[in-house]
Amino acid sequence: MHQEITAAQMLDAFKKDAPGHAADTRWAHTHGLGVLGHFVASDVAREFCIAEPFQGRPIPVTARFSNGSSDPERHDERPDTRGLAVKFHLADAADCDLLSMTLSVFGSTTREDFLDVAAAFVPKPVQPASWIRQHILDPLMLRSPPPPLPPGVTISGGPGLAQYAGSHPFVRAFTIEAGLSQVPVSWARTAYHAVHTFVAIAPDGERRPVRFSWQPVDGVFPVPADQIAAKATDFLTTEMRARLTRSAAQFTLKMAIGDPGDAVNDPSRSWPVTRRTINMGTLFIDRLAEEDQVDVEQLSFNPMRLPAGIEASGDEILRARGEIYQLGCQERRGMGCPLHSGGGSTR
Ligand code: HEM
Repeated sequence: MHQEITAAQMLDAFKKDAPGHAADTRWAHTHGLGVLGHFVASDVAREFCIAEPFQGRPIPVTARFSNGSSDPERHDERPDTRGLAVKFHLADAADCDLLSMTLSVFGSTTREDFLDVAAAFVPKPVQPASWIRQHILDPLMLRSPPPPLPPGVTISGGPGLAQYAGSHPFVRAFTIEAGLSQVPVSWARTAYHAVHTFVAIAPDGERRPVRFSWQPVDGVFPVPADQIAAKATDFLTTEMRARLTRSAAQFTLKMAIGDPGDAVNDPSRSWPVTRRTINMGTLFIDRLAEEDQVDVEQLSFNPMRLPAGIEASGDEILRARGEIYQLGCQERRGMGCPLHSGGGSTR
């Protein structure tokens, strides 16, 4: 019988390609900036979901913009997956979180896939493909051969993943999107996707499969290629500090509703862009967390910390993340790690 892969095994797999990781910091999205603001629901939001953030009362939020890398050095000027984690502070002193990133899909469907993909990232010498694989198995299975690499070369990260994607279709969309990652002119000028499917419960009890994303009100704008070299390694932080002295950074929360047949439990598959999409409200980020002495680096954000009225789908990766982030947070001695601590705000 197959034994379930544990969250600890998945976190360990993550750690294998994080050279130089510093104790008590996040294993992913290591560099970030804490910010504060509020969320205001749209007039129609409450018709689609009974969760507290959508009932109309402005909800205070604590959020963190981040670079996806676990690189201990800050590199705002490099192409990377960016993150936006938002913690909504609800009336009963509980919190709920929405984590999102600049890619719209993830590169695994199951816990097993995840371990394989993580292994493809680990630096290792390339093995030559066998004659049988190249001349019989790949053509028989209509597999495109992976890009040839000289034996003995050590590969990691992108090239390792690209080679793995040659024979594993579920990781292709993720690999292609990751490869096209750009450097945004601002953390406030890129879109972020929560990737997984959730279930939104409406006042009449209807349960809809939904996917959330944040669209920047100022529009998406990458740094032109010929200007990247002039960017400082911490320019995203400097830009956000300056931006918030002028006006709030704003994002619209979009909720796409799945049609029958759309992938509900599989974060590696996207939905057509033509799905009905509801404007659920606007996020206003208006100040740095340090102004209110809130240490966001210590905080726990967890994609399974959900409000009443929004439930997790059966997505294995989403559910595993609930445990992985709790574990990662406990290891770095963060604040508010337990998912179910019986309330208690981390404000
Ligand atoms: C199995 C898949 C994944 C694993 C193992 C993983 C792992 C991690 C870990 C270990 C952290 C640090 C957590 C902490 O110390 O508090 C982290 C942070 C983060 N992850 Fe993931 N991740 C996965 C998928 C995703 C996906 C699909 C998204 C986007 C929807 C995402 C977005 C983020 C963000 C935004 C953060 C930073 C949160 C913060 O600012 O505290 N991750 N991830």
